[in-house]
Amino acid sequence: MKKVGLILLVAAMLMTATLSGCGSKPAPTAGGDGNKTEENAPAKPTVGVAIYKFDDTFMTGVRNNISKAAGDTATLDIVDSQNSQPTQNDKVDLFITKKYNSMAINPVDRTAAGVIIEKAQKANIPVVFFNREPLPEDMKKWDKVYYVGAKAEESGTIQGQLIVDYWKAHPEADKNKDGKLQYAMIKGEPGHQDAELRTQYSIQAVKDAGIEVEKLAEDTGMWDRVKGQEKMAAFLASHGDKIEAVFANNDDMALGAIEALKAAGYFKDNKYMPVVGVDATAPGIQALQDGTMLGTVLNDAKNQGIATFKIAYVLAKGETPSKDNIGFDITDGKYVWVPYVKITKDNISDAQQ
Ligand code: GAL
Ligand code: CA
Repeated sequence: MKKVGLILLVAAMLMTATLSGCGSKPAPTAGGDGNKTEENAPAKPTVGVAIYKFDDTFMTGVRNNISKAAGDTATLDIVDSQNSQPTQNDKVDLFITKKYNSMAINPVDRTAAGVIIEKAQKANIPVVFFNREPLPEDMKKWDKVYYVGAKAEESGTIQGQLIVDYWKAHPEADKNKDGKLQYAMIKGEPGHQDAELRTQYSIQAVKDAGIEVEKLAEDTGMWDRVKGQEKMAAFLASHGDKIEAVFANNDDMALGAIEALKAAGYFKDNKYMPVVGVDATAPGIQALQDGTMLGTVLNDAKNQGIATFKIAYVLAKGETPSKDNIGFDITDGKYVWVPYVKITKDNISDAQQ
């Protein structure tokens, strides 16, 4: 009995040795190897991430959330395109040379996405764009192209509603008593979907509420706080107290405008100006708390960062993104839309990420 057992065991051992000796070598990423060491562990997916410029308050939030979402599950190479499309193109070429598994691109110029898609397709490296929406015809060029962002129209509409609520609750807001809202608009970068659509939809929401409007001034502050301050100072110099509300396409420019307004004597001795922004950045929320900014719109950096990373990660592993593996709904097979949220002094906690 014992002898038979021993023979069987030896036979089994021989068979195992023969089996593992032949057949193809397992791929380096194949799991199931019990005695793995650090060196022969499966390689982590590599993702090249290009931000349009690091020096942008909201995009810094998105960037930090991409890193956080990755943790140590992937190797990220996050680069600064320094607000230059040629620089970004060079960075993309490097990602391709390095054979990264996927790319996450925040374009400098969204119309440049088409060229990036062509390069990516040639190298078969899937790409997810975020924050700056490529043109629909470019998005259609390849099936391994995705976009994560927020519906710009929605943020504009919410801004308009913030001003409508204020106007209705404060009859004194109509300073010259002409029944019309005289306003100033500080735009983001021209051509950016968020700049164009926030400008349009914010005013549309005011009109839809039955309030007549008169535009006194409009100029671009390029998303920048200092430029927002300069533009507001110029508006005040030409229109002074005729301005009854200020719309800024983002919080940084709203905060700049508030500085200019403070310098002109606003926010003290009953002199007030309703100012609205978008993003709900930390300094933006501080201004809500201080009572200088009337309201803002949460641009959800956290969920945009998570969705961007998840898509890039799934693509890097050679899989197809779906609600199951990324945790977000995908619209038209390519788009993840993260909702905006209206933020005032009363629901600041909804904005704290
Ligand atoms: C917008 C954001 C701006 C700026 C811009 C950059 O969504 O509101 O503050 O970050 O993106 O593309
Ligand atoms: Ca008026």
